[in-house]
Amino acid sequence: MKRVGIIGVGEYLPKKVLTNLDLEKKVDTSDEWITTRTGIKTRRLAAHGQACSDLAINAAREALEDAKICSADVELIIVATITPDMQFPSTACFVQSALRARRAVCFDVSAACAGFVYALVIAQQFIARGTYKNALIIGSEVLSSITDWKDRNTCVLFGDGAGAAVLAPVSSGGILSTYLGSDGSLSNLLMLPGGGSRHPASHRSIDMRMHYIKMRGNELFKFAVKIMSEAALQVLKLAGLESKDVDWVIPHQANTRILLSMAKKINLPKEKIFLNIDRYGNMSSASTATALYEAVKSNCIKKGDIVLLDAFGGGLVWGACVVRW
Ligand code: COA
Repeated sequence: MKRVGIIGVGEYLPKKVLTNLDLEKKVDTSDEWITTRTGIKTRRLAAHGQACSDLAINAAREALEDAKICSADVELIIVATITPDMQFPSTACFVQSALRARRAVCFDVSAACAGFVYALVIAQQFIARGTYKNALIIGSEVLSSITDWKDRNTCVLFGDGAGAAVLAPVSSGGILSTYLGSDGSLSNLLMLPGGGSRHPASHRSIDMRMHYIKMRGNELFKFAVKIMSEAALQVLKLAGLESKDVDWVIPHQANTRILLSMAKKINLPKEKIFLNIDRYGNMSSASTATALYEAVKSNCIKKGDIVLLDAFGGGLVWGACVVRW
């Protein structure tokens, strides 16, 4: 089995910024409520007509450049998303076409906010076994397209963006351990009920606002703290490490309070949690991906650091990974 590492990262964020003050004009909320309950100040919004692959392609190009890999040499493309351009073809195929990455095998992964970690673990398997020499993984979301702008419980939380990484064999460091989990019995806590084969698009589904995110925030909050803590401890154990060995946690960014509670639970100084939720909100699969990019590019993560990726999302699903950078 080959040792696999992350050899390049990329990011793309749409230009349009939506502030808490802008939201005060849309729904009955306040900057004070959003800031204290979630940690979010602003989020980005895709331009009209800008789809998931448009964001993904930009992040992918930067990651390939960073990894010094030409798109013609990419062997696997996985896009993690809950807001694909279309039900099919996969968004990964649109990305392949735009990049002219003709050799690549392409598919999407549906693991909501844990999608980037799921994609990373899948890609790792293929590379470790020698099936493919490299992989481009992307977390990309246009959550504004499934956000109910009349629902103050959810519309203040989400944003649009994309992050990407290139994986390949490395001679030292790389992915030390991975840990995935799922519990479908809790699917009712977070879902988009309309548009699939259960409730195909109809006048009724639109009248019932079924094409927007439905969330039971309070229950999710408690579950998130518990499962992110458990996943962190499990994946560290698999790597033969403890909380004190971690230099940076790159978590899914659902709520600053979730992350601070998790840090406390696993005995980790809160300064080690990398946050970008204040600027971008929750971007589902793109959150972990962009946090990783920003932690690397701002020189927070240095060579040799122990980095813990930790995410959870609708499904419910969760995933964690330890990387020696
Ligand atoms: N502005 C002002 N008030 C709001 C509001 C908003 N945007 N959204 C909800 N409220 C109100 C509620 O209506 C409720 O009012 P009530 O007490 O009169 O009924 C009150 O604030 C408290 O609501 P509650 O849901 O208990 O708040 P909370 O402290 O749990 O915070 C979340 C709500 C959504 C921020 C929080 O539960 C959370 O982050 N959950 C996890 C979400 C998540 O992880 N989602 C993605 C998973 S990947």
